[in-house]
Amino acid sequence: MTGIIINQLEALLESDSRLITKASQFSSFIFNSFENINWAGFYFFDGIKLILGPFQGNTACEMIEISNGVCGKAFSKAMVINVPDVNVFPGHISCDCNSRSELVIPLIKEGKIFGVFDIDSPICGRFSSEEKLFTVLVEIFSSHVEYSDRFSPVFAAITGDV
Ligand code: SME
Repeated sequence: MTGIIINQLEALLESDSRLITKASQFSSFIFNSFENINWAGFYFFDGIKLILGPFQGNTACEMIEISNGVCGKAFSKAMVINVPDVNVFPGHISCDCNSRSELVIPLIKEGKIFGVFDIDSPICGRFSSEEKLFTVLVEIFSSHVEYSDRFSPVFAAITGDV
């Protein structure tokens, strides 16, 4: 199962597409390849805060300060954060009231962090046995994007950098 998923993902990300395209494909791939996931998507760092990127699931917070939430903590510490029960995580930002557990994985390229990938589940402890698998899949994503493309014109326009 793990080998098949990794091969499918490698094939999906092989194209010459830009970051926004690969991120869209990746969020759909994660959302549709696994059970008990109600949200899967990106927050990209704009130099100050985390900005919502491509995702699957209900509408979500558009911006997260790096000092806030599970996403901000995972980004500022550059570490994977697995929250088995969001109701007991201090500072958790609730975007979807159905979410019960959450896994946030930093996006790291060439030693630099450029955002996080966030996965939510309606089941407590959903990620306890698959944290490593999701982390590997996000690492594969990061290895297939160009760091120089992280602020493509699309993202620069969204964040007001141009
Ligand atoms: N729960 C996250 C916010 C993002 S949504 O879950 C999509 C957090 O605490 O950072």
